[in-house]
Amino acid sequence: MMHFQTDEELAIFFDQCAKDGLMLTFDPEEQSKLDCLLPEWDIREGHRIFEAGCGAGRLTEQLAPKIGISGEIFACDLSPEMIALAKQRKLSERVSFVCRSALKNNCPANWFNRILCLNVFPHFLDKPKTLREFRRIISRDGVMWINHLCSRESINHFHSNASDEVANHILPDEEEMGVLLKEAGFGIMSLKDSDAGYSLKAIPV
Ligand SMILES: C[S@@+](CC[C@H](N)C(=O)[O-])C[C@H]1O[C@@H](n2cnc3c(N)ncnc32)[C@H](O)[C@@H]1O
Repeated sequence: MMHFQTDEELAIFFDQCAKDGLMLTFDPEEQSKLDCLLPEWDIREGHRIFEAGCGAGRLTEQLAPKIGISGEIFACDLSPEMIALAKQRKLSERVSFVCRSALKNNCPANWFNRILCLNVFPHFLDKPKTLREFRRIISRDGVMWINHLCSRESINHFHSNASDEVANHILPDEEEMGVLLKEAGFGIMSLKDSDAGYSLKAIPV
């Protein structure tokens, strides 16, 4: 079984997903779950949002109207093909789509009011380092969200059966997440895990 070792190899895999037209839109069931999630994220005018692994920008498109003319969205992804599709959405000038690892974002410290990781956390190849980087860029009163539109069990089952390339891309259990987050300087505010989705809210401590 082949496992990805580098971001470059992962980018090639997701480039192919983009070429295959995957993850361009949310299906109606996903969208109704997202409709419940968006108010929980409490995104306000003027907020600075960091969207990790934005893919083809299907979420970014729904975030953009919420930040008004004074907010900003920094949406990054490893895959050039995903970013090219995202840019075709021609969102507001307050949105930047950047082809870059979330880990090597070059963003200022203490900057973002929200860090959003939708459908991406299992793919981070170095989770401790990525979380430490998120701790660096989140504002003191910021909130980080890690979400999937299905349960942890479902996403792990999906990855382990979907393709060799992502077979070991696992969303850790609550205990391991707690340790990872604590070591990076985050505390868990809430964690919901059901068929309605996986939703972890963390704040800097
Ligand atoms: C399953 S897709 C989800 C995309 C998007 N969040 C969505 O729900 O439509 C995961 C995305 O994360 C990206 N990704 C994985 N690891 C990343 C990293 N370290 N930094 C930035 N993007 C990453 C991949 O290239 C891929 O486009």
